[in-house]
Amino acid sequence: MRKNSFAIIGGQFGDEGKGKIVDEICAALSRKHEKIIVYRWNGGANAGHTVIIGGQKIVLHNIPSGALTKGAIAILGKGMVIHPMDLLKELMDVTEKFGFPKNLIIDEMATLSLDTHRAFESALKEREEGGAGSTGRGIAPAYADIVLRHPVRMRDLVSENWEVILTKHYDLYASFTKGLGKDISEILVPTVSGQAKKMGSKETFLDQLMFARNLLLPFIKNVDGLLKENWIGTTPFVFEGAQGVGLDPRWGVYPDVTASETTFSGIHSSTEGLIDPVNIEYKIAVYKATYMSSVGKRVLPSKMKETLAEKIRKDANEFGATTGRPRDIYHIDIPALSYFKSVSRVTHMALTHLDVSYKSVPVALCVAYKVGGGEYVPYRPDQKYLDKVKPVYKSFQSWEGKNMRGATKFINLPKPAREYVKSLAKLLGLKTFMISTGPERNSLITFSPR
Ligand code: IMP
Repeated sequence: MRKNSFAIIGGQFGDEGKGKIVDEICAALSRKHEKIIVYRWNGGANAGHTVIIGGQKIVLHNIPSGALTKGAIAILGKGMVIHPMDLLKELMDVTEKFGFPKNLIIDEMATLSLDTHRAFESALKEREEGGAGSTGRGIAPAYADIVLRHPVRMRDLVSENWEVILTKHYDLYASFTKGLGKDISEILVPTVSGQAKKMGSKETFLDQLMFARNLLLPFIKNVDGLLKENWIGTTPFVFEGAQGVGLDPRWGVYPDVTASETTFSGIHSSTEGLIDPVNIEYKIAVYKATYMSSVGKRVLPSKMKETLAEKIRKDANEFGATTGRPRDIYHIDIPALSYFKSVSRVTHMALTHLDVSYKSVPVALCVAYKVGGGEYVPYRPDQKYLDKVKPVYKSFQSWEGKNMRGATKFINLPKPAREYVKSLAKLLGLKTFMISTGPERNSLITFSPR
């Protein structure tokens, strides 16, 4: 086991509050260590990780949440798909609020996710339903480029013949959208601020990229040596995943899946086999403690009645950080979460949103699935299969959530909350690593020595 190594994934369907957990782990590590490495291995601008430091809130999309910690070297890994203009805008926001993140490195092998991908995704959406619920950030087409063997990477952007490579890329996507009956330059594509703009001509596309290229050049590097050297040494490593296991194309329910590897396995491929997640000491899944939320068409057996769902949505602001869409609310679904846990090889849990509880409403957990004849069945990533199963619920005594906000000791939590956390850990077969008790830094209960 590699000491001082931590990896964090979303244990549900994304939006579990990973940003805060990563930020807290990094902040704690930076009190004892001069240098830490924070590494993001998947996704791109589809993610929205909210961090609040000193009352200042920021939603990070590409930059790892721990990048704001003193002494952090933040790496945007090979497994990511990065939109250069979005990243620039994010860098500007971070700089304005927290100062320039000096130690930011973009792996030269990371794939570009461009307006061409967004335009194609938009044209495709009109033709077929597959990507209907996507964030529109061109994530799936950028990953598809890799398996189709024509990705454009960060190192292409900084190469001398970048214009030739990206002209070819634009022309390829123009023919894709032409085949779908659309002129690429006329297609509306989302920007990082959420507003849509016209894709524009090839010249505009290249001009924007040249601008981004010039500013990003100093950050784009080969990270191999740096990773190897520090992994062999004692520098703490924090690996930050985006999205959640329930959104993984292998383990989640179609069509509401993203394209990247959301489990710890993504660390292995992103670091080109250098870091095997088996050797990571703390493999932590983040869960919303009392409910789950997701966007899309999937319907899990544990869907919550709308009266309570609506209250939670309002109280916990359950609207997409990237898209603003209202999220569906579910009871904690143990069959699904146990499956996600085992395919990801999780060892610890970090809980958020434990304060979303109302004294008069018991916390109901879906503890098992049953089919017609009363036979217990497991979760499988298949909507048709899930449509046939019935949830089995177990109720737990609740507590008044708002009274425990900001608690820093487990013993100070209301007894039913403590009992609930212990039961959840037992049901999932995990050790408790951390409980977040509010959005601010330090509203936190920690369990593991660091
Ligand atoms: P894509 O990642 O834009 O391709 O979207 C595919 C699916 O994943 C859609 O259902 C999205 O809503 C969902 N998704 C992608 N990123 C996130 C996230 O960070 N949180 C929650 N859902 C996400």
